[in-house]
Amino acid sequence: MNQISISARIGNETFEHPFVNAAGVFDETKQEMNQILNSEAGGVTTKSATLKPRTGNSKPRYANTELGSINSMGLPNQGLTYYLDYIEHNQIDKPIDLSISGTSIGDDIAALKAIQKSNFNGLCELNLSCPNVVGKPQIGYDFAAIAAAMKAVFSFYTKPLGVKLPPYFDLQQYDAVSKILNQYPLTYINTINSVGNGLVVDADTESAVIKPKGGFGGIGGTYVKPIALANVRAFRQRLNPDIKIIGTGGVSTGKDAFELILCGADIVEVGTALQKEGPEIFARLDSELTNLMIHKGYHQLSDFRGKLRDNQD
Ligand code: SIN
Repeated sequence: MNQISISARIGNETFEHPFVNAAGVFDETKQEMNQILNSEAGGVTTKSATLKPRTGNSKPRYANTELGSINSMGLPNQGLTYYLDYIEHNQIDKPIDLSISGTSIGDDIAALKAIQKSNFNGLCELNLSCPNVVGKPQIGYDFAAIAAAMKAVFSFYTKPLGVKLPPYFDLQQYDAVSKILNQYPLTYINTINSVGNGLVVDADTESAVIKPKGGFGGIGGTYVKPIALANVRAFRQRLNPDIKIIGTGGVSTGKDAFELILCGADIVEVGTALQKEGPEIFARLDSELTNLMIHKGYHQLSDFRGKLRDNQD
């Protein structure tokens, strides 16, 4: 076989290209989502929707840094009805992943009940990891809360569902979370969300660079790639093989994506680098990944997916 294919499947969806925007980047409005769909992206993820529209945290709430970004957006979004309406009234010929993020489990359940009743049968991503809602801890760090949420959701939800997880830093955390998730017919996990509650300081003004939460916010970009690689690898080693993995964190080149896939990612999402470069980034990432595969003699992503070797000297 001489042809290179970079397509991948998650649930019933085929991504002809393995790159998609991370929830929260270029996806709050219909215009932005159309820009993603009109690029070389494999599909689009919506901004994490809440039941009602939200304006989010006060500004400045996002800053680029040399090695990445910090954000405390606070889930600004147009509300679930807006995104459902966008999906239902447009001819979208690429996979669309409807991200939702309640500010409580009760809201998540109400949103999923609405989606269950709707005509939308595509991928839905339950965000368990937003670090930026004032006064609300990340559910993904409360294992009893994850277990309760999964039990409640899968008592009625029958459509393809993924969860967006925060980064974990201890092997026992991977064991505990995988043990819970393996009990359910989850379609995928998305790992990692930003590294929560970092702080970026401007030495000139002697102040934090963003305003909400005293400057604490989610860190993304090059800083977080080793953490994303570890989370993808650790979950791939523990999750049932039929639970797919979206790898997110620190991707700005085709080589970054190659490494995430080598660790076990099925497709890859792009956040900070998309924010910095715009949707043209997807064509560049496609061609960099394809060229690397040609150089290495690979024909499809499954030739190297999950095949990271231990270093044995
Ligand atoms: C935000 O809107 O604050 C970012 C979303 C997230 O980190 O999940």
